[in-house]
Amino acid sequence: MADSDRAIELIDITKTYPGVLANDGVDLSVGLGDIHAIVGENGAGKSTLMNILYGMQSPDSGIIKVRGDEVSFGSPKDAIALGIGMVHQHFMLADNLTVLENIVLGDEPTKGLQLDFSFARDKITELSEQYGMPLDPDAMVEFLTIGERQRVEIMKVLYRGATILILDEPTAVLVPQEVDDLFNSLKELQAEGVTIIFISHKLDEVLSVSDAITVMRAGKTVATAVPSEITSHELAELMVGSELPTPETGESTVTDIVELAVSGLSNYHSDGRIAVDNVSFEIHQGEIVGIAGVDGNGQTELVDTIMGVRHAASGKVMLSGVDISGDDTKDRRTDGIGIIPGDRHRQGLLLDSSLWENAMLGHQTTAPFEKHGFVDKKGAKKRTGEIVERFDVRTPSVDVSAAALSGGNQQKLIVGKEMMAGPKVLIASHPTRGIDVGAQAAIWKELRDARAEGLAVLLISADLEELIGLSDTLLVMFDGAIAAELDPANVTPKTLGSHMTGVEVEEAS
Ligand SMILES: Nc1ncnc2c1ncn2[C@@H]1O[C@H](COP(=O)(O)OP(=O)(O)OP(=O)(O)O)[C@@H](O)[C@H]1O
Ligand SMILES: [Mg+2]
Repeated sequence: MADSDRAIELIDITKTYPGVLANDGVDLSVGLGDIHAIVGENGAGKSTLMNILYGMQSPDSGIIKVRGDEVSFGSPKDAIALGIGMVHQHFMLADNLTVLENIVLGDEPTKGLQLDFSFARDKITELSEQYGMPLDPDAMVEFLTIGERQRVEIMKVLYRGATILILDEPTAVLVPQEVDDLFNSLKELQAEGVTIIFISHKLDEVLSVSDAITVMRAGKTVATAVPSEITSHELAELMVGSELPTPETGESTVTDIVELAVSGLSNYHSDGRIAVDNVSFEIHQGEIVGIAGVDGNGQTELVDTIMGVRHAASGKVMLSGVDISGDDTKDRRTDGIGIIPGDRHRQGLLLDSSLWENAMLGHQTTAPFEKHGFVDKKGAKKRTGEIVERFDVRTPSVDVSAAALSGGNQQKLIVGKEMMAGPKVLIASHPTRGIDVGAQAAIWKELRDARAEGLAVLLISADLEELIGLSDTLLVMFDGAIAAELDPANVTPKTLGSHMTGVEVEEAS
């Protein structure tokens, strides 16, 4: 084995997809035991490069070295054998299995011919104590929060003995408190000699935790830097050639007209626990109502109840003064509620379908997608072209499948299709999740402009800057209930954070 202080060297990696040069002679060098960040705008080729390093994709050309030795991977199995593990941008857990089952899936422990779960259980308990990643091995994955799911994904990789850990946008889905926990665990891993490569669009956290940064742009490496020698503005400029945006509420456009009114809404989980606890609020025309909260405090269930996907045990939903509590989801949509779902792969997209078919989802029965009772393919393609143009979806055409888009570009497509449908009310769950700083600024502007035109927005986000910057009214959800209403003009991320974790709630009671 060669003697090298490099964990990974990727040299002149090239990868093409039909119509797209995803990696164009990329170089990457990662020091042993480093936390190395990769940044770059949506579609720059970051996930492609990591998939190549993990053996999921093979490069057209280029050299891969692991700890100084040149290697070639036929599949992830080969990469795993060399201690490389990857947690993907979109989680890949089986909902109907336990934490333990998910972790051992594909690598089941045996004693003779028998499955040996007690061995796995001990190993998981040991790892989770060592790295400060609390997990209940017997919990069903479907009931876990996003932060917990992510711990399961990381544990799955560590369980297989990874010493080089790749995390594709691990913090996109987390609130700041969860990000702190994750980074503490990563530091523990680093102290044990693990090398970590992570992708992120959040430049401040990149600067605070990484030892080195590689910047990619349009399939190429454009810079490498150490955090002490670069600012987030400079990073943003290298990535997208633009300044870092900040959201601002701007002039109030809130009117007296109530567009969406939710009153006394409650419902329960299948195991009898309360999911949504007597929630009431109003959104006026021209108003953005933000909901802050750690994932798993009832936000998803609240949205599902407003959309009619979940049954309300009590309470009602009024749209433009009309009680829609008995309507089905399809009617609620045609009556003017648009939705950007929180989980784009489970709810927002059909990955194997084309972009124009995806743009139709939820709007099949209205123009320009329908004409005389039939699908208007021409109209649908034209509209999709407009979405692609206005929301800067990077794609060779509207005929490619949604799976061929990078994560951030999938998100832009969803935001674009819902906003261009011209809803009265928009429920936006994590609208800029996984979106680069330049495109984020563009979406913030779209939301503000639509609000000025009278749109009523329910904004659910893990990004506290986005919530504080865009909301006219800011609510905190905790344990299914609205725990606080805060003034966005005067709240700091820190105070908001303590409300979200229930610290303030406990102090008050
Ligand atoms: N399976 C695929 N088929 C066709 N094209 C693809 C495929 N996967 C990626 N691409 C294209 O390759 C380019 C790079 O995509 P990649 O997913 O690597 O970007 P990324 O930097 O990870 O972006 P993001 O920040 O949005 O996740 C994009 O233009 C994308 O459309
Ligand atoms: Mg990606």
